[in-house]
Amino acid sequence: MRMRNLLSLLLVLGVADAQRTTQWTFVQSGLSGVIPVELITISPTLMLMYDRADGNPLLLPNGEKAWAALWNLETNTPTPVSSITDTFCAGGAFISNGTLVSVAGQPLEDPSQPPADGRLGIRLFGPCTSPTGENCTVFEDPEHIHLAVTRWYPTGLRIPDGSLMIIGGSNINTFYNTGPIAMDSIEFFPSKPGEEGTVRPSQFLLDAEPVNMFPRSFVLPSGHVFVIANNITMIYDIDTDTETRLPDIPNGVRVANPFDGTAQLLPLSPPLYEPTVLVCGGSATDDARPVTNLTTLDPATNQCSRITLTAAGVARGWEVERMPETRILLESVMLPTGDVLLINGAKTGYSGYPSVSDSNATQSNAANPALRGILYRTEFPAGQRLTQDGLPSSDIPRMYHSSASLTAQGNIMVAGSNPHPAVVLPPTTFPTEFRVQYLNPDFITTNASRPVIRKAPTQIHFNQKASLSVTIPPSLLRGDFKVSLMDLGYVTHAQHSNSRLVFLEHTLRGNTLEITAPPNNNIYPPGPAWLFLVADGVHSEGVQVMVGDGGDPPRADQGIKIHITSL
Ligand SMILES: *[C@@H]1O[C@H](CO)[C@@H](O)[C@H](O)[C@H]1NC(C)=O
Ligand SMILES: *[C@@H]1O[C@H](CO)[C@@H](O)[C@H](O)[C@H]1NC(C)=O
Ligand SMILES: *[C@@H]1O[C@H](CO)[C@@H](O)[C@H](O)[C@H]1NC(C)=O
Ligand SMILES: *[C@@H]1O[C@H](CO)[C@@H](O)[C@H](O)[C@H]1NC(C)=O
Ligand SMILES: *[C@@H]1O[C@H](CO)[C@@H](O)[C@H](O)[C@H]1NC(C)=O
Repeated sequence: MRMRNLLSLLLVLGVADAQRTTQWTFVQSGLSGVIPVELITISPTLMLMYDRADGNPLLLPNGEKAWAALWNLETNTPTPVSSITDTFCAGGAFISNGTLVSVAGQPLEDPSQPPADGRLGIRLFGPCTSPTGENCTVFEDPEHIHLAVTRWYPTGLRIPDGSLMIIGGSNINTFYNTGPIAMDSIEFFPSKPGEEGTVRPSQFLLDAEPVNMFPRSFVLPSGHVFVIANNITMIYDIDTDTETRLPDIPNGVRVANPFDGTAQLLPLSPPLYEPTVLVCGGSATDDARPVTNLTTLDPATNQCSRITLTAAGVARGWEVERMPETRILLESVMLPTGDVLLINGAKTGYSGYPSVSDSNATQSNAANPALRGILYRTEFPAGQRLTQDGLPSSDIPRMYHSSASLTAQGNIMVAGSNPHPAVVLPPTTFPTEFRVQYLNPDFITTNASRPVIRKAPTQIHFNQKASLSVTIPPSLLRGDFKVSLMDLGYVTHAQHSNSRLVFLEHTLRGNTLEITAPPNNNIYPPGPAWLFLVADGVHSEGVQVMVGDGGDPPRADQGIKIHITSL
C-alpha cells in the first residue's frame, strides 16, 4: 500500500517508472461461431457464450443453428452447447455449489424450431471440470424448475446465502420498459420459504422506469444489496424486504438498459472492507423523450462517479470524474490489480435494436464506435484515475451485444457485436461480429516473468488459513504484493454481475504463501472464485477455488462476524 502511494507520488511528480512502460496489445484469434451476448469464464480453458438461434454459422450435432457454445482458450474454437429454452439476454451467476445458473431469456421466435420460450427459463450448467468441456451440458427441466414470472433482461446476483437473487426485467422486446410489460419485482432461486411461485414487488424498480433493465446490483459487506437503475439507487435488505433510497447518480446520468452505463464494486480490503461503487458511462438524455425523438448521434456521458457506501461516504456523496471520451454500452472489466478496464461500446446513441429516429442509416441505435479502452486506476488520486495511455485502438467496432471478460490467463477476451435482430454480414455499417480478440497487458505482450501459483487448495473455508506454493520473480518483489480473490462475473449488456475482488490477508515467506479466506459470506458470497497474485503490478494466472462448504443453496451464515462500516 505504501509502495503504491509512493508510485503515485512519483507519477504525480512526473517521474516515469522506467520498468513499467505499459503497452497493451490486441491479438485476434478465431471466430466465435455464435455471438457472445453473454460471456462467462468457466475454467482455465473455457468461456461460456450464450446467444440466440438466428443464423449463426456454428451448428449443433443435429444440424440446427447453435445459440450457445463453449469457447476453448487453447484452440480458439467454439464447441456448440444446447439448451431447451432461449438464452438470449438472460442474467445469472454461479451459486454456492459451483453450478452456473442462467435465468430468463427471450420469447418464442419460431414455434417450428428450438429453442423454446426462454422467459421462465432456469438453466443449470456445471461445474464443468473437463478441460475441453466434454460432457458439460446445460440441465433444464422447464416443467418443474422455472421462474415465477416471465422475464427478459433481468439481473442475476449470488447473495450471501449462496443462492440467486433475480431482479427486474421486461417480458417483451421493448426500448423503454414501462407499464404492464415491466417485471418490477424480485424473486430467488431456490425460492425463499413460503415464496415459491411468488415475487416481491419493487417500488424502486417501478420508480426507475423506463430505464430499468439489467439493474446494476452488488452485495455489500453488510449482506445488503446496492441497486442502481436509471439514475436512482437503493439499498435492499433481503431479510426484511425493505428498500432504502440513496443519492441519485449525479447530473441526470442514467445507466441501466437501454442507456447502458457500467458499474463495479471496487476492491474490498481488510480490515473494514469499505464498499465503494464506481459507475461509468451511460446517458444523461431525458428519459421522457420518446424513442422516436432520440438519435444515434445523441452524445453519451463521459461521467464516472463513485460513492462509498458507509454513513460518512454517503454524507460526502458521489465524486465525479470525466473519461477522455463519452461512452455508452461500455464493458467494465475488473483486473486482479484492482484497476478497471473500460472497453467496447460507442460514443453516441443508445442500446437496443434499431428504433431511434435515424437508426435506418446505420441499422443501429448507436454510432461512433469507441475503439480504444480506458483504464480506471483505482488507487490514483481523484482527477488522475482515467487514462488511455498505453492502450491500443482496435479496428473492430464492438457495439450492442458485444462483451469482454477477464480470462484465467489474466488477459481480456473481447468479442461479439450485433445491433441487428438477426445475423447481418458485411456490407453494412456494423455487421454481426464473430472475430475474437484478446487484449493483453504489457507483461503478457512481452512474455515478462510473472508470479506463478504452483500449488493451491481447491477449496477454502471462511476465516480459515490456507497455504499455497508460489514463485515470485525477484525483480517483482520490490513492489506491492497482493492476493486477489475474484468472481469474474456474468457479463452481458455492459453489466458484469457478481464481479467482485476481495484482497486477502496473507504472509509471504519465500515460496510459501499463507492466505486467510474472507471472514464471512457477506464479504464473499459462498461459491466459486479465482485466486490471482499481483506483484509490483504484474499478475499471475488465476487458479480456481471454491469458497465456503460448496453445498447447495441456501447456506447458513459461515465464518465470523466482524466490525464493518458498510451500510
Ligand atoms: C463423457 O461421457 C462418456 C460417456 O459417459 C464417457 O465415456 C467419457 O469418459 C466422459 N468424458 C469425460 C471427459 O468425462
Ligand atoms: C434523476 O431523474 C429524475 C427524473 O428524470 C430527475 O427528476 C432528477 O432530477 C434526476 N436526479 C439527478 C440527481 O439528476
Ligand atoms: C425532439 O423533440 C424536440 C422538441 O419537440 C425537437 O425540437 C427536436 O427536433 C426533436 N428531435 C428529433 C430528432 O426528433
Ligand atoms: C512471446 O511468446 C510468444 C509465444 O512463445 C511468441 O510468439 C512471441 O513472439 C513472444 N513475444 C516476445 C515479445 O518475446
Ligand atoms: C446446485 O444447487 C441447485 C439448487 O439447489 C441444484 O438445482 C443443482 O442441481 C445443484 N448442482 C449440483 C451440481 O448438484
